[in-house]
Amino acid sequence: MENFEFCNPTRILFGRGAEEKVGQAVAVYSKHILLHFGGGSIKVSGLYDRVTASLTKAGVTWVELGGVQPNPRLSLVQEGVRLCKQHQLGLILAVGGGSVIDSAKAIAMGAMIDGDVWDFYLGKGAPVAALPVGTVLTIPAAGSEASTGTVITNEIGWLKRAVNSELIYPRFSILNPELAFSLPKFQVASGIADIMAHLMERYFTNVKHVSFIDRLLEATMKTLITQAPLVLGNPQDYDAWSELMWAGTIAHNNLLNTGRVGDWASHQIEHEISGIYDVTHGAGLAVVFPAWMKYVLKHDLNRFVQWSVRVWNVEMDVYNPEAVALAGIASLEAFFHYIGLGTKLADLDVPSDRIDEMADKCTEGNTQPAGNFVLLDRNAVKKILQLAG
Ligand code: NZQ
Ligand code: ZN
Repeated sequence: MENFEFCNPTRILFGRGAEEKVGQAVAVYSKHILLHFGGGSIKVSGLYDRVTASLTKAGVTWVELGGVQPNPRLSLVQEGVRLCKQHQLGLILAVGGGSVIDSAKAIAMGAMIDGDVWDFYLGKGAPVAALPVGTVLTIPAAGSEASTGTVITNEIGWLKRAVNSELIYPRFSILNPELAFSLPKFQVASGIADIMAHLMERYFTNVKHVSFIDRLLEATMKTLITQAPLVLGNPQDYDAWSELMWAGTIAHNNLLNTGRVGDWASHQIEHEISGIYDVTHGAGLAVVFPAWMKYVLKHDLNRFVQWSVRVWNVEMDVYNPEAVALAGIASLEAFFHYIGLGTKLADLDVPSDRIDEMADKCTEGNTQPAGNFVLLDRNAVKKILQLAG
């Protein structure tokens, strides 16, 4: 196991009706805030009314900025930065999914600088300050509610890039599993695929003697496999949503990468796909991950065998470990199909004519290999995208 430091400061308020505490939670930091949300689901569900009632009760006033799109855009972030500066707002409250939260985190960094926040996403400097962010989560998926990450798409060049900073851990996140009842099935499935991907990115590591976290990762993957059919069968299954929502947060709050180095190539490759084609992140991962696995399988067959046997209950065959590993990958694909996702680029309506461009962007013109488990050059990324085709 590698040395590590771990401190996740996000306060979690979990359970039925938890959003009613949002006013109190916000008022600890500021009485004048930016209320940030997406395309309207929170108004249809009535969540907007409950959140604003709680803010009013706590004496909090707000400026609103809705309209965050999935794969959140830089232009709206810039509008949010402008509003924060103009009205001297003291916190950004994100009510929604990963896209709203990521947009809020970007605004939080941008509000503290004179320059362009996009520079951080290009790796030009690192943030030294950020406004506090709080969240009310409406979809278990990205894990942004307790992560250091924010992923933004710049419409100029359709580049999707991430920043990671401990400054943007949300101060609090409100997790009421009931808020997921209204999710469309495709978003449910995409969210589950994203959580699964966050676990697998961490699972496939070269670091040895990490069996404790291996076991936690396996348990969390098994939780997804058992709870997914329950929420898809009954969207109002509070108990199953509770398991999924908490699993989604734990999957990405950095606990499960302690002492190890995750891979993240599949995420990097998926970000190139959703940057250009605006596909749903989790649905993109369901296509990339199996292809990545087939490509890197032989790098550490034992790890794939362990995963297949422990997570997918594939029968051990010491004489044919590759068949065991491939059976695990086939089980993963079957799971994605079962929850309603495709595993080929064509299922995303993504043609194969820009594979070279995506491979090039993903490796910064073949100067920065993607991933860690196996370092992938441009040609390797291209082969993975072809395997996904
Ligand atoms: O915009 P509204 O109307 O709210 O609709 C949203 C949106 O259309 C809808 N939705 C959300 N909650 C709902 C609901 N509809 C009905 N009922 C509800 N309760 O779902 C759609 C998708 O929302 P989005 O926020 O885009 O989903 P998700 O949480 O999957 O976020 C995806 C984004 O997160 C990034 C992805 O790249 C992508 O841009 N990621 C962020 C990470 C991070 N910050 O740590 C890590 C991830 O790996 C990921 O890259
Ligand atoms: Zn993800």
